Amino acid sequence: MHPRNVLYAQSGGVTSVINASAAGVIAAARRHGDQVGTVYGARNGIIGALREELLDTGGLSDDDVAALEHTPGGAFGSCRYKLPPLEKDRRPYERLIEVFRAHEIGYFLYNGGGDSSDTALKVSGIGAELGFPVRCIAVPKTVDNDLALTDHCPGFGSVAKYVATALMEATLDVRSMAESSTKVFVMEVMGRHAGWIAASGGLARRGKGIPPALILFPERTFDEAAFLTRVDEHVREYGFCTVVVSEGVRNPDGQFLADSGTTDAFGHKQLGGVAPLLANMITEKTGHKNHWAVLDYLQRSGRHLSSAVDLAHAYAVGKAAVEFAVAGRNAVMPIIERVSDEPYEWRVGVGDLGMIANVEKKVPDDYITEDGFGITEACRRYLAPLIQGEAFPPFVDGLPDYRVLDLPQAERALPPFEV
Ligand code: F6P
Repeated sequence: MHPRNVLYAQSGGVTSVINASAAGVIAAARRHGDQVGTVYGARNGIIGALREELLDTGGLSDDDVAALEHTPGGAFGSCRYKLPPLEKDRRPYERLIEVFRAHEIGYFLYNGGGDSSDTALKVSGIGAELGFPVRCIAVPKTVDNDLALTDHCPGFGSVAKYVATALMEATLDVRSMAESSTKVFVMEVMGRHAGWIAASGGLARRGKGIPPALILFPERTFDEAAFLTRVDEHVREYGFCTVVVSEGVRNPDGQFLADSGTTDAFGHKQLGGVAPLLANMITEKTGHKNHWAVLDYLQRSGRHLSSAVDLAHAYAVGKAAVEFAVAGRNAVMPIIERVSDEPYEWRVGVGDLGMIANVEKKVPDDYITEDGFGITEACRRYLAPLIQGEAFPPFVDGLPDYRVLDLPQAERALPPFEV
């Protein structure tokens, strides 16, 4: 068979290890040279695919590909863009087929989270619906860790490690100041609908020196009175209190505490800012001096503290996506299966995209303590392996040696397309 090209695209919120998946794709494609030609990276996800902005990775040296593994952000650019259902608007799908045909794309690999699996599922239908032979594989990635079927999502382990580390360090700071100054520290983390990232704050606990933080999960309705009582209790018991709050915490009316009033292409509300809100509440109602931080993009881009296990997973799913594609699969996603907790063993399995797209996996009840403010032993067992190992980037002149690629764009063969 004449080798067909790969179109790989990154989508949704990026992670510190998403480019390791790209490296896995490129390296695996090079090993399957009999079936795979060039790997193109779409600029800014599906938007670049529609606009025919295809970045050619053919000239990348092995060293460049390896550098992808230690560089955070999305090397090709990412997007939040929702494809309409095919039955409502065929135009984007027909355009994709034109682009695929013009550039001999036989494999479309879409690296993203829940919303992106919806896009991948729609594109995977092109073959059956419109008769164009393309195999579409979704590559999992999301710091939110909320994809179904997979044990966890590449990108999450690194955020968990970052959050737990940041909390340990801030706890040591506040415990030093508590006698005469700051008594409460509030740290806000991502995770719009699922509290996996917040849960990872539970890993910071270290005996009496670093007592547990109060964790506020989106899975639990915010109860102001109960929260303030617990803050006071912690201050009395430990001399200070640390709080990890998920950006997605809601009040009893079901409203996000931190609704910024703007929404993205998927209708998701932009969140961020619940930490200052809680800090004000603590000041007003308890009088405890406090500090707060919103980890925001720092947590998902902090490649200097990525977990080695997470990095390995990210690479493995990229590699597996190519292997699935050349094996003739369509509409699937490589997933991570946990074989055992201790010693931690895992393997790559296959997930049906139809069972993944638009499904959100929340933190289960047995991972949250009865009072709603902490993680259980079962949760700790689940999380612990995912943050193992350090995978420091190389440093030059005291700073990480991150590499930003400047890739040539494949010559356009088609007229422009409005996105
Ligand atoms: O999808 C992952 C995520 O990091 C969420 O946790 C967060 O709410 C969202 O992305 C932020 O999205 P954006 O970068 O598009 O504002």
